[in-house]
Amino acid sequence: MAYMDWRPTLEVGHAKIDAEHRSLVDALNNLHLAMKQGKGKDEIEKTLLFLKDYTVAHFAGEERLMIAHRYPETQRHCAIHADLVKEVGTLIANFQSGKVVLTSAVFSFLEDWLTKHIQGEDKALGAFLKSKGIAA
Ligand SMILES: [Fe+2]
Ligand SMILES: [Fe+2]
Repeated sequence: MAYMDWRPTLEVGHAKIDAEHRSLVDALNNLHLAMKQGKGKDEIEKTLLFLKDYTVAHFAGEERLMIAHRYPETQRHCAIHADLVKEVGTLIANFQSGKVVLTSAVFSFLEDWLTKHIQGEDKALGAFLKSKGIAA
């Protein structure tokens, strides 16, 4: 069973953003699976780095859309992205140095963050893009 299920309430109404969010949920599930299967540190680190890289690329895509369409909340939304990238970077550094193990608290943090951000800032962005007739 997957750790986190995709649910319709996570749809923001923009095809590319929605597809990438599904991939983010998949990446989180893969990380959880790697941990549950007792994979070694290197394997877990690889999935963790993939999740981070994918997140960075996804954020950059959203930011390009915001800038291209003069989204009024661009600055605030980008600042929230930057905070998350920083937090995940710290998590990875602590994991690499052995200071942190991936506990259920870490997964709750990632899932909560993803859910709240998608249902909050990303949905607002999706609604804005839709209002401009941009849905993909
Ligand atoms: Fe997003
Ligand atoms: Fe976002």
